[in-house]
Order: sequence, then C-alpha cells, then structure tokens
Amino acid sequence: LKKINVEVSDSSYPVFAGRGILNHLKPQLKKYSRFKNLFVVVDRNVARYHLQKIKKSIGRHKKILYYELKPGENTKSQEQLKKLYSALIKNNYGRDTLIISVGGGVTGDLVGYSAATYMRGVQLIQIPTTLLAAVDSSIGGKTAINFNGYKNIIGSFYHPDMVLIDSEFLNTLPPKEYKAGMGEVIKYAYISSPDLYNLMNDNFERILKKEAKITDEIILRCAAIKSGVVSNDEKENGLRKILNFGHTYGHAIESATGFKVRHGFCVVYGIVAELFLSNKIGVLSRKKLTRYLELPGKFRLKNILDDLDFEQLYQNMLTDKKNRNGKINFVLLSDLGKILLDVEAGKRDILYSFERARKFFNNI
Ligand SMILES: NC(=O)c1ccc[n+]([C@@H]2O[C@H](COP(=O)([O-])OP(=O)(O)OC[C@H]3O[C@@H](n4cnc5c(N)ncnc54)[C@H](O)[C@@H]3O)[C@@H](O)[C@H]2O)c1
Repeated sequence: LKKINVEVSDSSYPVFAGRGILNHLKPQLKKYSRFKNLFVVVDRNVARYHLQKIKKSIGRHKKILYYELKPGENTKSQEQLKKLYSALIKNNYGRDTLIISVGGGVTGDLVGYSAATYMRGVQLIQIPTTLLAAVDSSIGGKTAINFNGYKNIIGSFYHPDMVLIDSEFLNTLPPKEYKAGMGEVIKYAYISSPDLYNLMNDNFERILKKEAKITDEIILRCAAIKSGVVSNDEKENGLRKILNFGHTYGHAIESATGFKVRHGFCVVYGIVAELFLSNKIGVLSRKKLTRYLELPGKFRLKNILDDLDFEQLYQNMLTDKKNRNGKINFVLLSDLGKILLDVEAGKRDILYSFERARKFFNNI
C-alpha cells in the first residue's frame, strides 16, 4: 500500500495505490467518515465482476445504498445527474453523505459532479477501475457532465477526500480499454523524465499484458506525477497545462472521428503530431524526434489519419478550449521532461505535422 498526498488550496487528500488494497477501505472509512451515510455508485460492468468484493470491503454501515450506473459516455448527462439527485433526496440523504464512485472516468466525472453540487458539496471517495481513471481522471478534482453535445462543458473543480487505486480491477478491463488508457500513461513519460520513458519503452509489452509488478510501478509513478502537478497548480493556470501534451491534436482528431475512437488512442496520434511539430519549429532535434517516436510506434495503431480531412482538423483546433485570443496553443517538447507551454504555431507547420504523423502511422 503506497500513499501519495495531493495538496490543494486549504486541504490535502491521500491517494492510496496498490494491488488488492480495496480491503483497506474499511479502516479508512472508519478513520475518515465514521458517521457518514454512504451512497455507493458503481459502473454496471464493474458491478458485474466486483460488486461482492466492493460490498465486503465497505462492510456494514448505518445507512448505505448501492446505485448501478449504465456504462458509456452518454451517462455523463444532465438526465443521469438528475437520477442521482433524486435517489439521494428520496432516501433522505443529507449533508452527512459520503459518495463513493467506483468506475472509470465516466463514473468519476459524473459522480464527482453530483458530490460537488448535492447540498453544496458532500464528501467523495474516488475508486478508479480503468487505467485512464487510475492514472488521470480520479486525481485532480475535475468533474463534469456533457451538455448539448459539448463534452465536459458543465462541471467544477471538486477534490475527493480520498482516492483508492486497486490495480486488481484492471484484470477485468477489456484489452481495448486498457490499451487506450496506455495513451495517457505514455504521456507521463514525455512530461517527466528519461528514466520513466526508458522504463515504459523497454517494458511496453509487459505493461500491455498487465504484468503485475511493472504495471503497478507504472501506475504508481503516473499517479504520483499527476498528484504533484495538481498540487502545484490546482486550477490549470500554469504547470498543469503540461498534462495536455498530445491533446491539442488529440482532441481535434477525437472530435473529427465523432468521438468514435477512444480518447487515449487519439492522444497517441496527438503525441506523434506534437513531436513532429516540436521538431518543425526547431525545439526538438531530429535525433531525439526519431528516438521519442519509438514508444507511440509500439501501439501499432491503425492509421485513422488517412481518412481525416486535415482542413477540418485545423478548424477543430481553432475551437480548442486552451486557445487564447484566437491563437492555437500547443504544449511542445524540447526533451523528455522539458516541456514548453503556450507555444503558438502557424497553420502551415500544423498541417505539415499532421502530414508527417499520417506518414509515420502508414509506415509502422
Ligand atoms: N476528470 C478528469 O480529469 C478526466 C481526465 C481524463 C478523462 N476524463 C473523462 O473520462 C472519461 C473516460 O473514462 P474511461 O476511459 O475510464 O472510460 P469509461 O469510464 O467509459 O470506462 C470504459 C469502459 O470500461 C468499463 N469498465 C470500467 N472499469 C472496468 C473494469 N474494472 N472491468 C471491466 N469493465 C470496466 C466501463 O463500463 C466502460 O464500458 C471521459 O468521459 C473523459 O472526459 C476525465
């Protein structure tokens, strides 16, 4: 059992990580939330495999309700949010409520937002069950729902009181979901250190096979990086932007595919394009570019870029949330762990990098 602390404005919260650590939940609940009424929201796919284990780990409580959530991005909706509020109100949950979210990023974002808003905020525990949620969405307090076709457009920063990452959940995660999560995982290699890059590059296949020792180490290191970044910049005014490496192109690609391609894969395409852009604008040497393209190449992704209209992608980028004054802002790289924030690039260089990324995915 490893503990990382996230330090935010006037408080801090622990992130526990380890294999089989779900059974540490009961003592933690006793410590943190002895008098709370529990509302436990579980993704239905997760419940199918793990509900008994979850119930056992929580144990008996004076008031407890389990709520199963329909899986899928559409669940991050106002309609579903209303259903959660209704269940809480109908069952007389008050300010002494502790909501426990057990699932991937969809569950965490929706349930987190319900905790942020119900009675102006009740306690929250995040138990991530996907790789993406373990290394990214469960930590840092971003909660949101989608609205009128806009992703994450309604939401708030609301930190959990605790995050518990038990890598055993990943055993039942479908391989494609797991591999997509790896997209966010490799992002951490670029933004942190050569050491983490080499570890991931040398062990890619073992991580992909979910080999326990290496997978747990990688999860712990990524969760620690995310925690550290959030502790330094809670509301994304500066440093937190480094987490967007690969995401300017990534989001544009994701939206051009009508959100049919998993976010994590789009981040991998995005990382490749942003490496090419870093080289094109002269901050990343050709030698390093070649070396740092190795890791995304290992995903052996199908080349979806062939089917996309680059002009359309560029238009998508113009609407990116990170833009300021109508300029497209990139997070670029001059070396591993050496990140440049708020870099502007011209249309020609942007399209050139798309084209280079397209060729790259054709040749692997
Ligand atoms: N809040 C943040 O900081 C943040 C960061 C990144 C992404 N996100 C959000 O996260 C969401 C994506 O999250 P995700 O990739 O975790 O997807 P997800 O929550 O949709 O889960 C993916 C699939 O795996 C299933 N599943 C989850 N855990 C499982 C398990 N242990 N065993 C078997 N099946 C399991 C789910 O039912 C679902 O079908 C997006 O909505 C995105 O906007 C939020």
